[in-house]
Amino acid sequence: MSEDYRSVYRFSVEQPVEFWAAAASELAWSKPWDEVLDASHAPMYRWFTGGKINTCYNALDRHVEAGNGERTALIYDSPVTDTKARYSYAQLLDEVSRFAGALAERGVSRGSRVIIYMPMIPQTVVAMLACARIGAIHSVVFGGFASDELATRIRDCKPAMILSASCGIEPGRVVEYKPLLDAAIDGAGLGEIPCIVFQRPQCEAPLIDGRDEDWAAVADAAQPVPCVALDATDPLYILYTSGTTGEPKGVVRDNGGHAVALNWSMRNIYGIKPADVFWAASDVGWVVGHSYIVYAPLIYGCTTVLYEGKPVGTPDAGAFWRVVSEYGVNCLFTAPTAFRAIRRDDPAGELLHGYDLSSLRTLFLAGERCDPGTLEWAQSNLGIPVIDHWWQTETGWPVAANCVGIELLPVKPGSPTCAVPGYRVAVLDESGEPVAAGETGNIVIGLPLPPGTLPTLWQKDDRYRSSYLERYPGYYLTGDSGYCDSDGYLWIMSRIDDIINVAGHRLSTGQMEEVLASFPNVAECAVIGVEDSLKGQLPLGLVVMQSGADVDEEEIRAGLVRRVREVIGPVAAFKLVTIVDRLPKTRSGKVLRGTMKKIADGQQFKIPATIDDPASLAEIERALAGLGYPGDN
Ligand code: COA
Ligand code: AMP
Repeated sequence: MSEDYRSVYRFSVEQPVEFWAAAASELAWSKPWDEVLDASHAPMYRWFTGGKINTCYNALDRHVEAGNGERTALIYDSPVTDTKARYSYAQLLDEVSRFAGALAERGVSRGSRVIIYMPMIPQTVVAMLACARIGAIHSVVFGGFASDELATRIRDCKPAMILSASCGIEPGRVVEYKPLLDAAIDGAGLGEIPCIVFQRPQCEAPLIDGRDEDWAAVADAAQPVPCVALDATDPLYILYTSGTTGEPKGVVRDNGGHAVALNWSMRNIYGIKPADVFWAASDVGWVVGHSYIVYAPLIYGCTTVLYEGKPVGTPDAGAFWRVVSEYGVNCLFTAPTAFRAIRRDDPAGELLHGYDLSSLRTLFLAGERCDPGTLEWAQSNLGIPVIDHWWQTETGWPVAANCVGIELLPVKPGSPTCAVPGYRVAVLDESGEPVAAGETGNIVIGLPLPPGTLPTLWQKDDRYRSSYLERYPGYYLTGDSGYCDSDGYLWIMSRIDDIINVAGHRLSTGQMEEVLASFPNVAECAVIGVEDSLKGQLPLGLVVMQSGADVDEEEIRAGLVRRVREVIGPVAAFKLVTIVDRLPKTRSGKVLRGTMKKIADGQQFKIPATIDDPASLAEIERALAGLGYPGDN
């Protein structure tokens, strides 16, 4: 490992105040900070206290004021609607400042919450930046969630306004948002909440008189407003993510630390220059979309691509190559699942040959474990460095990566390389002692976390402490387990909780169990994440019905699948479920989920010494075989 990465890393952890002050000086502040790192309420740390900043100003106004108004800020490419559009920085600023004016006119102000339930269209970016402009706290809800999930988020953050669209578009299916939105507002039980709805031509939604307004009319009549100077510590957004129960965690992001960290990451992690074209092929509903479709590329002065399509089927596995060549994309960021899908449809990479991909310098992958085969396939077909990097909704930007802007370290397929400057990553055993190189343990990050990471959970400081800080005092618990090898490379192996990763989407099996358990006549159930060659993992449910219940198994299975789709949403991808007579348990009644998962994945397993009834495992083996597990999944 050369001195470059090492020296930057050492500086960042030995002198974090100097390191982050230098990074912060690259942004525009209305008032400089009093303290870079405020430890007065440790372990609740704050960055850049006393500083005043506006994220929207840094993402738009300052580029226009610097004479770059004609540079393309956003390219919208939507194969599902056959639409393409470009927005310059000046145009985007105009739309955002006017829409911010419309929100302000309707009483939305600093600290108000605004839910954004919208698909991958430019108006969603306008909505996010308009909130940032006036200090309203946005909370984007992914379109693949059902109305119950939306209702939970409404109840938790109590929005002053909801911004939505008439529909999202999935290949072959128009997803009507309005019925889901109306049901969610009813279900939340907070009374009517004003909505502004963007009507898409694919499906016009009926508006409710006195509550809903038409986006186009609102935007046309709006007057622009300037940016509000916010405290660096003011929340920019809340993004809900799966916790270990049905109650999602409202991850809070501040303004100052977030802008500083993202701006730093563009050059140092992604090796990007201002005016480069950056494409994160994700969704604005996820953290990757927040950070690397919207905020980081714009703060850094790049052109960002907003792609409303899939890696395959819109129209084929050459879709990504078309976008890269058409817009001269310099850096592509997506989830390994997308590449597994492309490889499945085009194993020899033949579709690559029709496109000029010479602009592409690097491919970054994150969101789930990247299997070496997928990484090597991408590397050999693209002929560029393929960088696996590891992060979480909570951190907002990468914890471990090969920082190509500092120094490209040798790639070890299967490892996201080393800790990013600013993060003191450690691997601890159950008693809190660091484990030796190569030994698996719980991956933690020494406090304080660097800027840009979550300062807390929305109005739940206690949950923040108990979920992340109490297990190992002085450390943040990532929830991932793995090891660090003798070269300092990290290997992320699995979660220590019930979170699974399906097509790069983070889901809680505990939440699915809650849904199954509430189904009529279900006595008990377990949901495990089984390996899948396309999506990484898939949820699989095992259900025990109450004795004496009149059971039509096929009907029940269909009902359970439907129920999870209705309550959590299609994104849960819950399609595998089987009915069993009993679940294997320890003598103390703990369900042996880990053993069932090993059986489903075809791994060696030992019958636990504490098992209550060994015969129950044989039954599980038969039930899983009925679903094709273990198999070539
Ligand atoms: N709105 C409504 N429904 C959505 C949705 C959205 N925004 N996104 C996904 N869904 C639906 C899908 O249509 C699908 O529904 P179906 O069960 O009726 O087919 C379901 O949710 C599951 O979606 P997904 O798991 O994504 O599977 P898929 O078969 O539609 O697509 C891939 C498979 C690999 C093409 C797709 O998962 C993909 O592009 N993955 C890239 C990963 C990614 O972007 N991750 C984000 C984090 S970086
Ligand atoms: P999310 O909060 O949706 O971004 O999901 C975060 C979780 O995804 C992490 O805690 C990991 O379990 C997993 N994850 C993300 N990136 C990687 C990666 N590069 N390698 C392994 N797991 C990853």
